[in-house]
Amino acid sequence: MSFYENNILPHIINCACSSNAIMKLREKVVPLAFGNVLEVGMGSGVNLALYNQNNVNMIWGLEPSLGMRKKAMNNIARSAIQVE
Ligand SMILES: C[S@@+](CC[C@H](N)C(=O)[O-])C[C@H]1O[C@@H](n2cnc3c(N)ncnc32)[C@H](O)[C@@H]1O
Repeated sequence: MSFYENNILPHIINCACSSNAIMKLREKVVPLAFGNVLEVGMGSGVNLALYNQNNVNMIWGLEPSLGMRKKAMNNIARSAIQVE
């Protein structure tokens, strides 16, 4: 992958997907998940803090981009739910 794909694009996607309007929608939908969750295209893990830890056993995050996986590390470390 190129420098742009690994270092620039993940930042742009993360900013675009974390706007106030999108966060409000996430706050409505993500807490409804339960059981074992598979996030296809987990990105930087913006959803992780929004899962209801009483309802979710664990989260599988599928993410092909190395840059996005690197960006997700902080959110994964802060997650109260196990993330693989
Ligand atoms: C627009 S971002 C959304 C990230 C995250 N779901 C969110 O809501 O913030 C889409 C993500 O899907 C990932 N992606 C692209 N192709 C994929 C594929 N074939 N399988 C799984 N993830 C993929 C990208 O690397 C990117 O991180």
